Amino acid sequence: MKSQLAIKKIYIKTYGCQMNFSETEIISGLFLSNGFELTDSMDTADVIILNTCSIRDTAVNKVIGKLGQLKRLKKDNPDLIIGIGGCYAQSDSDFLKKKANYLDFIFGTYNKLRLVDIINKIEESRVLDDYETILDVGVYPDNEQFQYKDIAYKNPVTAWVPIMRGCDNYCSYCIVPYVRGHEISRIPSEIITQIEGLSSQNYKEIVLLGQNVNSYGKRFADGIDYKITFAGLLKELIKIDKIKRIRFITSHPKDLTDELIDVMSSSEKICKSLHLPVQSGSTNVLKAMKRQYSREYYVELIKKLRDKIPDLALATDVIVGFPGETEEDFQLTIDLIKAVRFEQAYLFRYSSRKGTAAEALPDQLPETLKKKRLWALMEIQDKITEEESIKYLGTEVEVLVEGPDQKKNVNSFSGRTNSNKIVIFKGKKTDIGNFVRIKITRTTPYTLFGEKL
Ligand code: 5AD
Ligand code: SF4
Repeated sequence: MKSQLAIKKIYIKTYGCQMNFSETEIISGLFLSNGFELTDSMDTADVIILNTCSIRDTAVNKVIGKLGQLKRLKKDNPDLIIGIGGCYAQSDSDFLKKKANYLDFIFGTYNKLRLVDIINKIEESRVLDDYETILDVGVYPDNEQFQYKDIAYKNPVTAWVPIMRGCDNYCSYCIVPYVRGHEISRIPSEIITQIEGLSSQNYKEIVLLGQNVNSYGKRFADGIDYKITFAGLLKELIKIDKIKRIRFITSHPKDLTDELIDVMSSSEKICKSLHLPVQSGSTNVLKAMKRQYSREYYVELIKKLRDKIPDLALATDVIVGFPGETEEDFQLTIDLIKAVRFEQAYLFRYSSRKGTAAEALPDQLPETLKKKRLWALMEIQDKITEEESIKYLGTEVEVLVEGPDQKKNVNSFSGRTNSNKIVIFKGKKTDIGNFVRIKITRTTPYTLFGEKL
């Protein structure tokens, strides 16, 4: 349905994971195809939308801070339409409706495709002078969830493609299954059609997104069993000629199959980089986290991966300070981090989430201890990240060029290696979207610098 209104400028601020950023691209595409405009400036926007995250307290605090600013903007300009959506909005909608009455709409993770209707409804109710906050946080049918097509991709070279939504794992600390619902997989032909479309628009790389991509295929959105695994899906996608690189996030160690390892090792198109969250190096803590694997299983899996894919770059997530984590448990995590030597690790302090199983566990650790452990682990990992990065010095890498260097150095461009390292080099505009060979001449922990060969 086209907007009946004078063109409205929409500003969207996104928090959280790639899934949220991808959903902002989907929402943005929906607005554009319905006659709205997008703006990067909050000051000139007619509609401001926050797409929020609730994974940890830090993410929620950022959103709450922003809401204070929006309240002031609304006071200065009562015509401004303000909405909040995504995971945090879903998890705390009653509180928001009660406490933030300046919000025009609150939408959940199932309702992003209804935003145009919501904004039109707000306009109509304003004309009738009969409006209150619209609350749309219900659970909608699975088969509606992937019904979008005009996506406003931010990056012209590499595109995010959701292949599933939700999660069935219920790790005891995690709020995701509560805010994003049960796991459903997108129909394979729809994924293939989207990626074929991307390939005809000259996209070279895709990143498949899901909370646990390894269990793709368990339950499809339309209820039909397409009898295809994640590895099977990859085998179909590598046939799409112009797509040269395929990445995926995130993998759960318990679902990473030999079939997947075989596809990764045998296809050049599948990037040799894997994000494999370990969460803890202690089997006792892993048990309390309900991760469904032991330390030994994880270490064995890494060994198998490295045997079959020798140039594999590994990244992980770790939570420190989980309820009941002892000093010995923490030392086991340090030990694992030192033994595996991840190229990158995202380290988090445990944050209690309302309604999760871990919230009710005894022996919640004090913040000071959690912070102390986090800083200690960060120091160790920072050194490993730096040392692993230095290994690139003097090597030649193939870089897919994404665009000008964000710091806007003249003639500086940036791209990524197959292993997902950012590389900055002097180049030209025509390099964008192409592969170039770069000799690495300088490294920092997260960025490589080099010269074009
Ligand atoms: N506290 C801290 N970190 C968390 N994560 C998920 N839930 C929590 C929590 N309650 C981390 C996990 C996950 C990543 C996306 O966020 O490490 O892999
Ligand atoms: Fe959360 Fe565990 Fe699901 Fe990941 S696998 S989204 S950590 S419940």
